[in-house]
Amino acid sequence: MSITSGGPSGRSDALVLFGATGDLAKRKLYPALYHLTQRGLLDMPIIGVARSDWNRDAFCSHVREAVLAAEPHAEAAVLDTMCSRLDLVCGDYASGGTWTQLAEMLGKTGSVNATFYLAIPPSMFPIVVQALATAGLNRRGRVVVEKPFGRDLTSAQELNRTLHEAFDEQQIFRIDHYLGKESVEDLLVFRFSNTFLEPIWNRRYVSNVQITMAETIGVEGRGAFYDSVGALRDVVQNHLLQVVALLAMEPPVGPDSKHLQDEKVKVFAATRPIEPESMIRGQYEGYLNEPGVAPGSTTDTFAAVRLEIESWRWAGVPWYLRAGKGLANAATEAVVELTPPPRFLFDEDKSVPTPNLIRFRLGNNDGVTLTVQAKTPGPALDSEDVELRCDFAAALGNRREAYERLLGDAIDGNHQRFAREDAVEETWRIVQPALDDPGPVHSYARGSWGPAEADSLVPGGWRPTSS
Ligand code: BG6
Repeated sequence: MSITSGGPSGRSDALVLFGATGDLAKRKLYPALYHLTQRGLLDMPIIGVARSDWNRDAFCSHVREAVLAAEPHAEAAVLDTMCSRLDLVCGDYASGGTWTQLAEMLGKTGSVNATFYLAIPPSMFPIVVQALATAGLNRRGRVVVEKPFGRDLTSAQELNRTLHEAFDEQQIFRIDHYLGKESVEDLLVFRFSNTFLEPIWNRRYVSNVQITMAETIGVEGRGAFYDSVGALRDVVQNHLLQVVALLAMEPPVGPDSKHLQDEKVKVFAATRPIEPESMIRGQYEGYLNEPGVAPGSTTDTFAAVRLEIESWRWAGVPWYLRAGKGLANAATEAVVELTPPPRFLFDEDKSVPTPNLIRFRLGNNDGVTLTVQAKTPGPALDSEDVELRCDFAAALGNRREAYERLLGDAIDGNHQRFAREDAVEETWRIVQPALDDPGPVHSYARGSWGPAEADSLVPGGWRPTSS
């Protein structure tokens, strides 16, 4: 039976953080809360909920340390303000007493519209969501859920059902932190605020698109979690497919969240499920020795896939995606390769010029690089590659961290940068055949570009990353 709340919209009046002593909260959420406080955008009680048996002082020290680790020059006054708003409920999520305590604490603050942030393992989502509903707290707020959002289509649908038993879709905020990155959001702005791209942004002028998310780090102490997930689930199904959607979508009819989400879902709906033969999986050498990894594990730390979007705009254009850990360079990039000119007039040296590349740099050093041809100095009519490069940090100044933006949005009740239910399910539909029939996992050396087999996926090879 559905007990959805039709809960309040608008700005929240309290933040409740489940998993308050966990890793995500420490690395990402407390620094983000610090920045929101510093900007005067977080003037509400922050209640941590955790199973660890801590008192309020220990919690405050933990939060201070977390902020200082990320922001060594954090302002003491801002930290004091932030700490003055903190409180903590300790207890087992399965115990009724925890929820009574939380409801009482929230009651004392006068909150009627809280943001409940689930920074907890997905296996705990159903317990917490049910308990929020039983305590009637679903009628007094909204819920933010972290990825992984399911581990396949069936579990994602199940999770959506669980959430919808307690919350309406407009009360649910599904985090994909790539949607909070300014560089990723720039794809939308760059495409639809300029006129020069639109006439060529289609199958006639784009020969292929390559998206790379390369990390040099390994699983970094997350072996047990990562081993049950792998690269395809960890970053391809979510982060990289969101990048695909922003690059491939039609212009939304308006700036509202609904319009944007509708266009993204159309891209996903037009994307063919990944055939197992269109995927290459890899595992870095030494992965099996990582703490928490199962003996003989065949989990992928690298995945490369070829996608096809069966729309009028993109039919026949291959989209290549690769993501991996333990690779040669850290880079997140989308490279849109244009078709060559119909005739090469300036090729006295008989070399084939590099096609025009539009490279969106989405990671550190974000910006855009256009690779174009220009005249080689000297008497001959030859051309050579030059790069027209813009670094957004230099051109535009500092941008805010993804988590700061996403937390601020969730508190404000703005869905624009969150993943909608239908989009999440469509992305699982796309990767499902590759999950069902994953094929072999190829070993690769750390510091390489993944298994050699991945090179054969892309005729002509992957474009080297630039950052
Ligand atoms: C997370 C993945 O979603 O994204 C991690 O779970 C990955 O495995 C991380 O390292 C990368 O994020 P970013 O912002 O550094 O590209």
